[in-house]
Amino acid sequence: MTGKSAVVTVDNKSVELPVRSGSIGPDVVDIGTLYKQTGQFTYDPGFTSTASCESKITYIDGDEGILLHRGYPIEQLAEHGDFLEVCYLLLYGELPTAVQKKDFDYRVTHHTMVHEQMSRFFTGFRRDAHPMAVMCGCVGALSAFYHDSTDITDPHQRMVASLRMIAKMPTLAAMAYKYHIGQPFVYPKNDLDYASNFLRMCFAVPCEDYVVNPVLARAMDRIFILHADHEQNASTSTVRLAGSSGANPFACIAAGIACLWGPAHGGANEAALNMLAEIGSVDRIPEFVARAKDKNDPFRLMGFGHRVYKNYDPRAKIMQKTTHEVLAELGHRDDPLLEVAMELERIALTDSYFIEKKLYPNIDFYSGITLKALGFPTTMFTVLFALARTVGWIAQWNEMIEDPEQRIGRPRQLYIGEPQRDYLPVSKR
Ligand code: SDX
Repeated sequence: MTGKSAVVTVDNKSVELPVRSGSIGPDVVDIGTLYKQTGQFTYDPGFTSTASCESKITYIDGDEGILLHRGYPIEQLAEHGDFLEVCYLLLYGELPTAVQKKDFDYRVTHHTMVHEQMSRFFTGFRRDAHPMAVMCGCVGALSAFYHDSTDITDPHQRMVASLRMIAKMPTLAAMAYKYHIGQPFVYPKNDLDYASNFLRMCFAVPCEDYVVNPVLARAMDRIFILHADHEQNASTSTVRLAGSSGANPFACIAAGIACLWGPAHGGANEAALNMLAEIGSVDRIPEFVARAKDKNDPFRLMGFGHRVYKNYDPRAKIMQKTTHEVLAELGHRDDPLLEVAMELERIALTDSYFIEKKLYPNIDFYSGITLKALGFPTTMFTVLFALARTVGWIAQWNEMIEDPEQRIGRPRQLYIGEPQRDYLPVSKR
């Protein structure tokens, strides 16, 4: 507590509400007793002014374009760390020592296989099923296999489930891709690092050896780091709300995957690439920018804007650099989609509409170009986002379970429907 308070006056009655401070960032007004004291609710449907929890995991300063994971800037983690090191940091709160890193990598690596019966789940889906539909189903189905790690009150079982999720998501994502393209599943190999293992499970075929390109593996690993966690975004809030009822972690992650799928959230990377392809050439950009500004046109520039960032998304800058590295490595330096993306960014950043609304490229703007260059179809883009975000969901879920203030999430409403009225027999309607 800060000793500070906020006074709310309702119907000439004033109530004093405590103000709480964090370590950095805005204070919060604790409104937990507001209804009891005033009989009134607060109203904030998009949670634009609402803090749902205390957290130590990720801090975002939207005005300054700052993103910290357990205090470490995303730029430093992306430059110097690897994804499993960031997973350790998000889960345990500190960067691992060399011994801790080796042990964590070993434990994750030796949980990458899924139960052989899982492969039969895939055959129930139509061949043209969107891989995100497959992921929603298969991740939820994991709870049918691991009853030894669904007692959420047991910290050991929570950590076992957490490691299983982090370890198995690449395997399930690769299986969803292979099923989508009609190729046989490829089993994980324990002598490969996390990102290399995933690329091989996606792109290897039984007919020939597959050698992982280290530049592409490093780019994939960095893309995972950039997507790992992001405070109380929509899908993380979904996982927290599902977990607050005591649901098992696999079901909670499946709920997060479902929420991430939306084009306003994680589905924006797929939508952004489709938008760039629809624009097609630099000379058509003004037409689409005009549509994005037109109040009567629902079209928005996918990959632009953010609920929190009112400055450049720091992840987008790193993503853009990774895009150039991957395209250079693959000899696609002059990819027409990149040319359209860079010109669209240049125009949007100088346009008064985007400037006054503080709309900048977000992480989804460049990721699609990179993932396409790596060989993934657009339908797999959000699956890759879900793969990486699983550690963030799991870390936030664990924090929520361990929070002594944690209760089942149960918002109220502003009712605007009919007051009570009596039933009329059909003869009188
Ligand atoms: C992610 O929360 C997270 O952290 C998410 C994420 C994560 O890591 O988890 O960062 C990942 O989801 C990134 C965002 C990906 N989504 C997109 O790129 C889709 C396109 N962007 C928009 O749909 C929108 O910007 C949102 C959904 C991202 C944010 O929406 P808000 O905060 O509700 O803002 P808004 O819709 O109220 O927009 C504010 C104004 C509006 O104009 P007015 O009604 O005030 O006149 O800006 C306009 C909007 O019309 N606007 C856009 C725009 N985004 C907002 N206009 C044109 N193109 C856009 N992209």
